[in-house]
Amino acid sequence: MQTAQETKLTINDESPKFDVESIRRDFPILGREVHGRPLIYLDSAATYQKPQVVIDAVSRYYAEDNANIHRGVHYLSQLATREYEDARVKIKRFINAAESHEIIFTRGTTESINLVSNSFGRKYIKEGDEIIISAMEHHSNIVPWQMLCEQTGARLRVIPINDAGELLIDEFIQMLNPRVKIVGVVHVSNALGTINPVKRIIELAHSHDIPVLIDGAQAAPHFKVDVQDLDVDFYAFSGHKLCGPTGTGVLYGKTAILNEMPPFMGGGDMIASVSFEKTTYNTLPHKFEAGTPHIAGGIGLGVAIDYLTGIGLDRIAAYENELLEYATELIGAIPGVKIIGTAREKASVLSFTLDTVHPHDIGTILDQEGIAVRAGHHCAQPVMKRFAVPATARASFAFYNTKEEIDKLAEGVQKVTAIFG
Ligand code: ALA
Repeated sequence: MQTAQETKLTINDESPKFDVESIRRDFPILGREVHGRPLIYLDSAATYQKPQVVIDAVSRYYAEDNANIHRGVHYLSQLATREYEDARVKIKRFINAAESHEIIFTRGTTESINLVSNSFGRKYIKEGDEIIISAMEHHSNIVPWQMLCEQTGARLRVIPINDAGELLIDEFIQMLNPRVKIVGVVHVSNALGTINPVKRIIELAHSHDIPVLIDGAQAAPHFKVDVQDLDVDFYAFSGHKLCGPTGTGVLYGKTAILNEMPPFMGGGDMIASVSFEKTTYNTLPHKFEAGTPHIAGGIGLGVAIDYLTGIGLDRIAAYENELLEYATELIGAIPGVKIIGTAREKASVLSFTLDTVHPHDIGTILDQEGIAVRAGHHCAQPVMKRFAVPATARASFAFYNTKEEIDKLAEGVQKVTAIFG
């Protein structure tokens, strides 16, 4: 696993040039205009733009290979099955899983976490047990656990954060006890950008035999994730945040633990045999993949992963760190700007507020300049409460953004301050 420190590499003279202009040409949408201005897309934490190779892969699948998978003896079904299963192997390599069957296709991070909270929860969580999450979770790593607590009488406990937006690890250590049945923590906060020390969290939880789920939605696009090195039990991430199609995602789980868990949803493909008396279940990964999946999406995600690994996750991390440092300095220097989330280790997210201007107004004025940022609570209302703000404006960066775009963002924010006096 690459540590956050290692992701702070700068691009050195021996690296091949990071040719952002050439990369941008791979993304057709980056050539369009919005409100008569060139699009400046700074909302990649919400979803990534798609390179032409991914768009082509999805389109080609429907035009040439479309058939249902795992079902037919006919040529197209076998072809589609092979392409879909090849994508699973690419994902396995991408996160260095030990086995392809540890890769479960889902609709996204949210579904991956719901799969674990439902399936693991049904088997292992009962009244009086405890589930630990953190104060910087996305709603998708809060609400499923709350629902489970309501159903079982278990208790949700929350690791606090400091004013910089960093987890208080000493408090976490104090929370570990035999009642805790699972820990669920975000790898990179979507609202603050904090990179959490997940390897340490996993080690600490494992020293009490507690399994750990990591929400990697905002981490997987930005730096290399190695699930074996992390020794993580569950790792969830989204395909659409990896330049892949929407409606695709992954749950990684260790074989031993997945084998012991009951199915999440029932239906076709997840069974070995069905009778009215008794149904037996398929082996991994199919046990957790009921129904016809997003076949084109899975294939597209495999191509997106090829594309990202072709550029290189280390080079992506280094370039994005330069962008984040540049933006933090530039936007942070504008009078009235307050940056929310000043952790020592951050990735690609700059959340900020402006004195006397609501973030929605910031977002609306920037939009008129062709600049797309997200304004709101970012599906992390407890984070907003922790920092006593109703919302923030959030610029989030990807490897296809440029320093010139950040200059435009700074000009836009200055325009907002001028309008609101
Ligand atoms: N979770 C996504 C975001 O942070 C949608 O914008």
